[in-house]
Amino acid sequence: MALLPIIVAPDPRLKVVSKPVETVDDGVRALMEDMLETMYDEPGIGLSAIQIGVPKRIIVVDVAGKDEAPAPLRIVNPEIVWHSDDDAVFEEGCLSLPDHYAEVTRPASIKLRYLDENGAEQELEADEILSRCIQHEIDHLDGILFVDHLTAVKRSIILRKLTKLKKSKLRESA
Ligand code: NI
Repeated sequence: MALLPIIVAPDPRLKVVSKPVETVDDGVRALMEDMLETMYDEPGIGLSAIQIGVPKRIIVVDVAGKDEAPAPLRIVNPEIVWHSDDDAVFEEGCLSLPDHYAEVTRPASIKLRYLDENGAEQELEADEILSRCIQHEIDHLDGILFVDHLTAVKRSIILRKLTKLKKSKLRESA
């Protein structure tokens, strides 16, 4: 297992559309374990493979509360096969947009089809925070960040701040 560096926006890699996984093999399973370890270390509740620079349709999620047992989901080639007509508004953050949060509107509930870590097809109905987190992570696989759901003005404010932060970090390390 290994902790992996997370790509911070703005970065062209975060705009890449990730490719489906052909076979869920040991390499994919090892990647998912590294992603979970990295996510728990941050801590976060979801992570997509592209955030650690791997353009494959893989996400990991765990929305269990602090006092609950861990409930990791290892999700390959996810597809939303149904979503509710009613929307929910919820404040989102992202490990690739550190320290920035904004309210995003998305369908309240979804039904998901995906492959698990054994390559078996699974279906999952999700609402509330699990639905929210899965939709956010699937967006990453399509090159979409939560700021892309905001107005252009709000988006550019957040991205400008992150750009400044990156520049100041570069200067510190120079
Ligand atoms: Ni994110």
